[in-house]
Amino acid sequence: MQRQEYIDPIKKDLSHFLLGIIEKSGAACSVDMLQKNFCAPPSLDLGHIAFPCFFLAKSLKKAPLQIASTLAQTIAALPAAARPTLIKQAKAEGPYLNFYLDLKELGTLVLEQILQEDQTFFKITISGQALPKTMIEFSQPNTHKELHVGHMRNLALGDSLIRLYRYCGFPVVSTTFPGDVGTHVAKCLWYLKHHQKEAIPTTMEKRGEFLGKIYTLAHKKLEEELGTPLESENREILTQILKELHQGHGEYFNLWKESREWSLLQMRNLYKWSDVHFDQWYFESEVDAPSVALIKKYLEKGLFVQSEGAVGVDLSSDNLGFCLLLKSDGNGLYATKDIELARRKFEEHKIEKSIYVVDVRQSLHFAQVFKVLELMGFAHAKDCIHLAYDFVELPDGAMSSRKGNIVPIQELIDEMVKLIRNNYLLQYENLWSEEEIARTAHHVAIGAIKYGMLRIDPQRKIVFDLPEWLKIDGESGPYIQYSHARISSLIEKVAPKYAASANNSAIPWEELKERSEEALMLKLADFNQVVISAQENNRPSFVCAYLYDLCKLYNNFYAECSVAHAASPEIGSARLALSKCVREVLREGLSLLGIPAPKRM
Ligand code: ARG
Repeated sequence: MQRQEYIDPIKKDLSHFLLGIIEKSGAACSVDMLQKNFCAPPSLDLGHIAFPCFFLAKSLKKAPLQIASTLAQTIAALPAAARPTLIKQAKAEGPYLNFYLDLKELGTLVLEQILQEDQTFFKITISGQALPKTMIEFSQPNTHKELHVGHMRNLALGDSLIRLYRYCGFPVVSTTFPGDVGTHVAKCLWYLKHHQKEAIPTTMEKRGEFLGKIYTLAHKKLEEELGTPLESENREILTQILKELHQGHGEYFNLWKESREWSLLQMRNLYKWSDVHFDQWYFESEVDAPSVALIKKYLEKGLFVQSEGAVGVDLSSDNLGFCLLLKSDGNGLYATKDIELARRKFEEHKIEKSIYVVDVRQSLHFAQVFKVLELMGFAHAKDCIHLAYDFVELPDGAMSSRKGNIVPIQELIDEMVKLIRNNYLLQYENLWSEEEIARTAHHVAIGAIKYGMLRIDPQRKIVFDLPEWLKIDGESGPYIQYSHARISSLIEKVAPKYAASANNSAIPWEELKERSEEALMLKLADFNQVVISAQENNRPSFVCAYLYDLCKLYNNFYAECSVAHAASPEIGSARLALSKCVREVLREGLSLLGIPAPKRM
């Protein structure tokens, strides 16, 4: 597939200009090649944007060093009118041609798009062929089990990817696939009927959490009774439960139907709280029977091997072992369901690419499923992608329901909200409405959790550390949100002062002469490229790092350059405009992480 391209306006301008000069010297070159070649100089003292000359060496038959200096001389000799207004100066520095930009032009060309009413800066277009319609499946917890901190990593990651893909112009379908059948459900129902002592909570909202606890108890009890006379009895009941669920009637089936809703309600509430939306819900239970039928159809075609009634495929030539698809009792397995699910996704939604956000333990499972699909002649097998991510651990090690050191999601949320209210919002108790305090606490809790989960690359472990994640002076969601709120209130305070100069036309960007101002302008101009590479690499962490850097640069600027008491109204209003740009980019960047940006906190 052809790579999509986004070209930022600065690189586009510079490339077209450079191409004219290079072509005259006889090198074979294209705007495309040039655009990809730019990089950032190691320090602003050396220029704003650098063009490495290595790749021209071959076609020009000259050393990069020489090429850089010839290009610099040629550019210097041009009359001002023959140069793009964006270029102030070009200097050779070893094999690099370093450009100094006219920051007034940069402000007018790029930054003003942030301040326009319709914010065209955030409406990027990507050239190349049409972007493939993409489905992203994420947050697929099992019903009848506990929702815990670990689930938030998947939720935050999948949701941010949806937002990044949309921003970049992809048609996207978000989907979830809860596991609502299987042995874990049978265990839970077994305990519920035979051993449960505490009353079922009267409030519906509490029942999902209760069910999760029941599952943990069930699991424990069954382990304890292994090797005792009760073991075979338990096994028989579990088989009976699974059979009833399969047949779709009976006492256990009714209990399943009722209790399944408790878990689903808990999920829906969590999604609402987290501002996560699914376009499509698939369930394991609905693909179970059709998946068995599908495999039987292909069995007739002679695709699979059969042994003692069981059906599967030998994938050992691909180093993927044996993939079992039907057990000897005729029932399907997890992989079986995924085969039917994959087919449905492409057929029902006419998608062209299917991403599964699932933890790394299931890598072999997905490799097997995708391989079986390929063997079945499924044309889209190659368009299925497993996006694996690593675990969330507690500071004292891995979470496990057996160890009993799981942090249930509701506890996490309640604890976060409580800490935020006590640590940050107590001072506003009599100043803000209770509604605003509650909303802000909710939004900061989202910021802490999602940023904490997203700032680490998917393939690295996360150590969940609540105090760290809430720190307002470290790399955390609340720090970014707090920076945004501070800038917002500064703008509100200072804006009236510069209203007169702001109203009468162009923003005097040329007044921004400090290094910290330059650094901030260049950083802002980078935003879209960062977002695109976050999307291309499926790494929201790029956006996290960018926002953190932007906040730090703004702090440097703020310490050096007074906005409220600038030396002239022109400088003041340019700094005000710069601050507004930072606020908007922070808000937009946070929204790509699924994090709200409160106006004050
Ligand atoms: N419910 C499964 C689990 O909790 C994850 C499902 C992942 N998605 C899939 N299409 N298999 O382990």
